[in-house]
Amino acid sequence: MINSISSVDVSGKTLLVRVDVNSNIKENHPVLSGRLKEHAKTIQLLSSKGAKVVVLSHQGRKGKSNFVSLKGHLEELKKLIGKEIYFSSWEENFKEKIYSLENSEILLMENTRFLEFESEEKTPEEHSKEKIISDLASSADAFVLDAFSVSHRSHASVVGFIPLLPSYAGPVLEEEIENIDKALNSTETPRLLILGGAKPEDSLKTLDFFLSQNRTDKVLVGGIFGELFLVALGIKFGKKDSFFEERNFFELLPEIKTLYEKFKEKILLPEDFALDEKGKRINLSVSDFPSDFETKDIGEKTIELFDSEISKAKLIVFNGPMGVFEDSNFLLGTKSIFKAMSKNSGFTFLGGGDTETALTSAGFSPKDFSFVSLSGKASLNYLSGKKLVAVEALRKSNLEF
Ligand code: 3PG
Repeated sequence: MINSISSVDVSGKTLLVRVDVNSNIKENHPVLSGRLKEHAKTIQLLSSKGAKVVVLSHQGRKGKSNFVSLKGHLEELKKLIGKEIYFSSWEENFKEKIYSLENSEILLMENTRFLEFESEEKTPEEHSKEKIISDLASSADAFVLDAFSVSHRSHASVVGFIPLLPSYAGPVLEEEIENIDKALNSTETPRLLILGGAKPEDSLKTLDFFLSQNRTDKVLVGGIFGELFLVALGIKFGKKDSFFEERNFFELLPEIKTLYEKFKEKILLPEDFALDEKGKRINLSVSDFPSDFETKDIGEKTIELFDSEISKAKLIVFNGPMGVFEDSNFLLGTKSIFKAMSKNSGFTFLGGGDTETALTSAGFSPKDFSFVSLSGKASLNYLSGKKLVAVEALRKSNLEF
């Protein structure tokens, strides 16, 4: 069982709160996202209950252009929460700053990945021995892990406080787990899984888990993943074949073929595609392949087929768009799936790193569905039956206030 911070009286307590405000960066500034807003709500909630809130998060990856300070996030969080938030770099006397916090005050620490040791994959116990981690822990009463989206990483600020402090789940993490568990364990049939996107290695793991554990009744495959099923069955795409080859996707074909042969009745493949004929969307049946033009979306007949399956389902799990939704000519497949899902009165779950952008491009919002996950890889791992290291550490934590 994971202890929830919502059932604890936090007034006057100093809390280390690990959120995930990792954002797309434009002109050195974070792009506002659903995830940033939800974590701001957690911070606001704990502050409104009288806690002294010390906020920790990473941003970007070392060596990448998104590896920036959290000072831009500070401005966004101030606007979202509507109050002053203090800031500390790692070079300053942050312990002093934490000790001087009054009830309800908030301090945002600098990007945790500016600390060399943060991203070393060590155990919670090993990380807890790091001086900065033990210094922070000794200045606080409890740790709150809200950052579900990074809970698959055994990073210092994610797992390192758990052996040292009473540790609790924050509302974002709790909601993610509750909804993914629902998506995995629903017994209301028919259950439908929709897999697309451009990361077929990941989709394959999820598909394998859902099918071999009998957690779905039907699967719709689109995006690059759907195309690879057809390649595995011997279809030549023409222009697109070199794309599959360059990305080593052919290596996945034996596994895809084996899964297809075993679970044929459950897997619905695209029957046609939309291709890019010099900027124009044209439709082509799979039986008329190969083509000189590139496939960029599922076709009209496939959209109809998929829509009909969606309308019958009681549970729908979506992960990954059907095509190149960033190009308005090839948004239709993904948009139609969203539309059909939004009309479904069953449990509709959406996950995947691109989902928020795809929803916005298609004119939908998370409110149109039962639940839209705020995480990419972590939810995908959880959906593939993998244990998330930080969630497991939280489950085992038994320190109390
Ligand atoms: C995410 O955006 O998926 C999380 O913040 C994790 O980021 P990472 O993949 O750089 O660890």
